[in-house]
Amino acid sequence: MPIDDIETQRLRIRSFQRDDWQAVYDYTSDPAVMMYIPEGPFTPEQARAFVADNMDEQARAFAVLLKTDDMLVGHMEFHPWFGPQTYEIGWTFNRAHHGQGYATEAAMALLQHGFEALHLHRIIATCQPENVASWRVMEKLGMRREAHFRKCFRRPDDRWWDEYFYALLEEEWFTR
Ligand SMILES: CC(C)(COP(=O)(O)OP(=O)(O)OC[C@H]1O[C@@H](n2cnc3c(N)ncnc32)[C@H](O)[C@@H]1OP(=O)(O)O)[C@@H](O)C(=O)NCCC(=O)NCCS
Repeated sequence: MPIDDIETQRLRIRSFQRDDWQAVYDYTSDPAVMMYIPEGPFTPEQARAFVADNMDEQARAFAVLLKTDDMLVGHMEFHPWFGPQTYEIGWTFNRAHHGQGYATEAAMALLQHGFEALHLHRIIATCQPENVASWRVMEKLGMRREAHFRKCFRRPDDRWWDEYFYALLEEEWFTR
């Protein structure tokens, strides 16, 4: 489902364009940002491929830019998940722009789009318990923690990760 020019108070969410790759590489090459992303830090080729894979109707991730100066500060994952009318949402932002509410602001706009335009039934999100910033965003969005899976995911370094699983239902969105 193409997402173009969803605007919030401070942000614009749009499809990726080919020359976004350098801005994407700036933060996806940062080991601190990619600590909880299974692929780990991107090479320039991986950043280019990520952008190229997310430029059409099959896109699973979308660029987030500051409206003031068009600076690309991160991206949102938003795509179908298992189950009918169910999407997964996720977020990755440049470290220089953390802690300003951008992930929450962009996610809130996508939840609204998901429930009110796409008529989704359920939107889910997952993260590691150690990734406090990520599950804080989920809680600020009003998502519920539904599960804490133990050692369910194997890291590239062969350690096992726990996972928190959060969700929000359509009826919860409309009665929040
Ligand atoms: C997760 C991430 C997208 C959040 O982006 P952000 O724009 O900083 O998020 P917000 O400002 O909307 O909210 C972050 C919240 O976490 C809190 N927080 C951040 N780090 C924290 C920590 N170590 N301990 C406790 N709270 C923390 C912030 O205070 C804020 O909560 P508050 O508004 O109640 O104060 C960003 O940290 C990031 O890009 N991380 C790396 C990529 C990643 O791990 N993505 C998720 C994979 S599951």
